[in-house]
Amino acid sequence: MNAPRQPGPPMWLLAEVTYRCPLHCVFCYNPVDFASHEQELSTDDWLRVLREGRELGAVQCGFSGGEPLLRDDLEILVGEARRLGYYTNLITSGVGLTEARLDAFKAAGLDHIQLSFQDSTREINDFLSHTRTFDLKQKVARMIRERGWPMVMNVVIHRLNIGQIGRIIEMADELGAEYLELANAQYYSWALLNREQLMPSREQLRAAEAVTNEWKAKLADRMRILFVVPDYHEGKPKKCMNGWGNVFLTVTPDGTALPCHTARMLPGLSFPNVADSSLRDIWYDSPGFNRYRGTGWMKQPCRDCEHKEEDLGGCRCQAYLIAGDAEAADPVCPKSPKHERVLDALAAAERPGAAQRPLIFRDPQESRRRCAEGA
Ligand code: FES
Repeated sequence: MNAPRQPGPPMWLLAEVTYRCPLHCVFCYNPVDFASHEQELSTDDWLRVLREGRELGAVQCGFSGGEPLLRDDLEILVGEARRLGYYTNLITSGVGLTEARLDAFKAAGLDHIQLSFQDSTREINDFLSHTRTFDLKQKVARMIRERGWPMVMNVVIHRLNIGQIGRIIEMADELGAEYLELANAQYYSWALLNREQLMPSREQLRAAEAVTNEWKAKLADRMRILFVVPDYHEGKPKKCMNGWGNVFLTVTPDGTALPCHTARMLPGLSFPNVADSSLRDIWYDSPGFNRYRGTGWMKQPCRDCEHKEEDLGGCRCQAYLIAGDAEAADPVCPKSPKHERVLDALAAAERPGAAQRPLIFRDPQESRRRCAEGA
């Protein structure tokens, strides 16, 4: 195997400060076994991580979770990140974002807030998150705007809300959104458990894209809309995380450092904890971060593929979840020997009566139950 090429510094430090969350979203990207990683770094640990990340060269810092607002030291962390010179980003459901906390974040210098919605209707928003949060999110959106932050919204799109996409865009416009990300669900973690119920049909996707394009033209002067097509339908592997250990350094609530949110599940890899190693050692020297850098680790069909530099073989986690082998080509690629598994999932979404099974909501008890069963 060729030695991995020497990476540059990470651009993004993603601080997943907690897995605790008041919502129970059926498409949550937190690991299904999140309840077995309940320990959280202390304030001082996070402050050290922020310093080390900046010394390493990271320029953007995202605070996410779980719901990061459940950490009552978040203002301190944001303030320190800002003081260190990061561009700071809070990724939140809005639950817990009071006037007082918003003022404190403003004083701390927070640059950017990304607010998530589940849908444009109270019924579906509250059903999908299993909480009554729709009205609160509307209120929070207004409070964010009043304080002069740009309104940045994110909605995960899937079979249960894709039909409302025009109304979702309209709602974003009413709330003054300047940027709207309509991100089709990615099938990992809780979304993978619910894949059958969440996967849209081709016709639904085509119609949603057409509606989005109409709105894009109509709102071109005031809103940027990003429609992220699911890679299952595209038949084209994505350059996941912009390359393994290339741009993003994620630190999970218990301090485990990862190249992506879900890499901890990959067999045969171990990832260091920030309590034991510096971020510099983790980024440049840990076997876990070096494992899938570049193209030297590839086997066929990726090794001789003309697109290998563009997509870097797709997503390692998806290769493991679908093909059972993290070194395999991402099965969304038609050249993958396991591509028929993706086609089967797409065909299931076309069958009448698809999506009838009950949804599995993200929930600590469910997480513990699955851990106990080894699921
Ligand atoms: Fe882990 Fe793609 S999500 S490599």
